[in-house]
Formats: sequence, C-alpha cells, structure tokens
Amino acid sequence: MESPTILKFTISLSFFCMLLLFASTLNPVFGLENCNFPAIFNFGDSNSDTGGLSASLITITPPYGETYFHKPAGRASDGRLMIDFMAKSLGLPYLSAYLDSLGANFSHGANFATSASTIRLPTNIIPAGGFSPFYLDIQYSQQFVQFKSRSQMIRKKGGLFATLMPMGDYFSKALYTFDIGQNDLGEGFFGNMTIEEVNASIPDIVNKFSINVKNIYNLGARSFWIHNTGPIGCLPYILANFLSAQRDSYGCAKSYNDVAQYFNHNLKEAIVQLRKDLPLAAITYVDVYSVKYSLFTKPKDYGFELPLVACCGYGGMYNYGVGCGETITVNGSQMFVGSCERPSVRVNWDGIHYTEAANKFVFDQISTGAFSDPSIPLKMACHNI
Ligand SMILES: *[C@@H]1O[C@H](CO)[C@@H](O)[C@H](O)[C@H]1NC(C)=O
Ligand SMILES: *[C@@H]1O[C@H](CO)[C@@H](O)[C@H](O)[C@H]1NC(C)=O
Ligand SMILES: *[C@@H]1O[C@H](CO)[C@@H](O)[C@H](O)[C@H]1NC(C)=O
Ligand SMILES: *[C@@H]1O[C@H](CO)[C@@H](O)[C@H](O)[C@H]1NC(C)=O
Repeated sequence: MESPTILKFTISLSFFCMLLLFASTLNPVFGLENCNFPAIFNFGDSNSDTGGLSASLITITPPYGETYFHKPAGRASDGRLMIDFMAKSLGLPYLSAYLDSLGANFSHGANFATSASTIRLPTNIIPAGGFSPFYLDIQYSQQFVQFKSRSQMIRKKGGLFATLMPMGDYFSKALYTFDIGQNDLGEGFFGNMTIEEVNASIPDIVNKFSINVKNIYNLGARSFWIHNTGPIGCLPYILANFLSAQRDSYGCAKSYNDVAQYFNHNLKEAIVQLRKDLPLAAITYVDVYSVKYSLFTKPKDYGFELPLVACCGYGGMYNYGVGCGETITVNGSQMFVGSCERPSVRVNWDGIHYTEAANKFVFDQISTGAFSDPSIPLKMACHNI
C-alpha cells in the first residue's frame, strides 16, 4: 500500500506530466535544449557564398561589401548574408569559403557554396558561360568529402594548420545548411526553355538535391536546415529581361514566381520522404520564399522602399542592365555604377541579390522557427521532433 506522501507525490508527478504534455502539445519545442552546434557546413549559391567564387573565378569588386565590411568581402551584397547572421547567432565565426586558400579558418565549419551554382550540372560554365562549375554534386562529392577526410589528417599532424580544422566529432554535431535551386530555374529561363519546360524539369532538379542530402547524411550529418527558393519573379534580372511577362499586383512576374513555388512544393515533399529514409536526421524546411515575398507586398511595414529596383546598377525602370561596380560612358563622360544613397532601406542590391538590410530582415524572421517545418528555432534544429 502506498503511503500518503508517495501517493501525493505520484499525483503531483502525474499532474506535472500532464502539464508537460499539455505544454508540448501547444508548443512542440517546449523543454528542448539548445543544440550548441559547434560548426556549420553550408552548400549553395550566391545567396550564401562567403567568398568561394570570388576566390576562384570572378573577383568581387567595390562597391560590394561597402556597408558592413567596408571593402569587397566575397559576398554578392553590400554587407552580410543570411548565413553570416546565422553563424553569428549560433556564436560561430563567419564561414570561410572552402575555395579560399588565403587566410581561411575552418575550425568551426566551411562554406562550399559558390555564386552561380546549380543543383544539376549546368550547360554553360564560367568563363565560357554564366554558371559555376561547382554545382551541388561537386560541392558534396569532391569538396565536402575531401574536406572531411583531409581536415582530419591535418589535425593528426598537429602544428599551425591543425588549429584551423574542425574537430572530428563536429561533423556529426554540426548544422548542415542549404540554399540552392534558384540558378537551376534561372538557367532554364535564360536558356531556350519555355516556362512550362522549366516547370516540368523541377522534379528531376529536386531529386538530385535529395540524393546529395542522403549522401551527406551517410557521411554522418544529422541536422539539416534547408531554405526553399525565393520569389525569383520579383528580382530585376527577371523583370528587366522579361518585360512582357504578366505582373502580379505587386509588380512581380507571376509565372516565374509560380515556378519557384512549384519548386518549393516539390522540395517540401522531398523532405517528407527524406525524413522517412533518414530516420536519425532532423531536417528543417525553411520557407524563405514567404518572408522575401513580404518585402515586395508590404515593404513600408518593414521600413523598406522601391523593392523592385536595384540599389546598385544602371538602366531602365529596374535600374538593371549595366552591372554594379562597372564603369560606363554616359553622355560622353565616364561613370562608375555605384550604390544608391540608402542601401539600408532597400531590398535589392544589384538586381539579383538582396541588401544586407533585407538579409537581416529575412534572418530575423526565419531564425525563430515561425517559417519552418517543423516549427523549430535555428538554435534547436538538431531535435528530431
Ligand atoms: C580560427 O578561428 C577560431 C574561432 O574563431 C579562433 O579561435 C582562432 O584563433 C582562429 N585561428 C587563427 C589562426 O586565426
Ligand atoms: C538558344 O537558341 C539560339 C538559337 O538556336 C542559340 O543561338 C542560343 O545559343 C541558345 N541559347 C542557349 C542559352 O542555349
Ligand atoms: C507546374 O507543374 C505543375 C504540375 O504539373 C502544375 O500544377 C503547375 O500549374 C505548373 N506551373 C506552371 C507555372 O507551369
Ligand atoms: C544624359 O543626357 C540626357 C539628355 O540630355 C539626360 O536626360 C540624362 O540625364 C543624362 N544622363 C546622365 C547620367 O547624366
């Protein structure tokens, strides 16, 4: 027979359990601990390239970087990218690009993203064409695979270089982040494909993405944070090149955004399947599209203006045509194509990429988990809920 004290304890314990159950039904992250990610390994394109393409193929020049770094910093923006704000919020240093051989420090991660990267092998590669040779298969199969094994050989050797490499157990504890797919759509739109053909190619693009996630998991990765693709039809490089494309009520090219949304629909379904195939993985799908789109639908609410117009550029109603940082001759005199007066209130930096202010806004929204599936904050994204 239970003594009254034990009974009381049992009752209050079960009451406590019910409370916990209730709280966790209301909020699935109730009681979860911070993951304390010791490193980030990032894969992607210019949305998260911290210097890879600039170090290897196309040098980023002024006025890129002017807002935060006060000099070009390998990023396609006036300042920091979402990946920078993510690293900072997790207490980690900004990621060095894997391709940057000068001064790189990989002790808390590495960035395999390069600007102009695609998921699928692109047809036209820099310098003969517009796309990065470092597409997702290469970022995984050549670069990440080598990085994982060679960094550990270097650690074993000791000395100065060992201190620049991540510890062996970081690979399983790290956050693996992805922001890629926009250029697969862009390659289709700027190639000779119709919108319908680009749309029809999406299942294959997303399938190739999934294969890479599985391969990375098989090397020990467990926590994945995957951005969907943004509203490409709101960017000057689409708007200025497809002037006759139908606009939505905010001035964005509707069918181009529809294709982006179809990509996101496929990506979300692929992630549902990945969760089944990779039972030990915590995979967070992050709806970056909705947050970026809100910058075009309600810019004033968030302190922004002229969201469809490039801050740094020249030409036409979207201020896009001559590239940011180029020099042109207008009315017989030379003119440097520089930044607009107030990049801090602008959404678009150079016609393709977002300003630091916009990147910060998007980061602030997504890091809480409010736009994630499952709804989990960035710092808790190791939990398989
Ligand atoms: C590499 O980065 C880590 C973490 O930020 C830092 O503690 C270390 O001093 C850096 N190493 C060098 C050689 O700069
Ligand atoms: C599109 O087709 C035209 C005519 O066949 C060709 O000249 C051009 O190079 C093609 N563009 C791409 C990106 O394949
Ligand atoms: C893309 O394909 C899907 C599935 O066939 C279809 O539902 C959607 O309307 C298509 N979107 C566009 C813009 O063609
Ligand atoms: C060039 O000249 C035209 C015609 O006088 C003028 O409208 C335009 O503003 C000038 N452009 C620049 C950049 O000064």
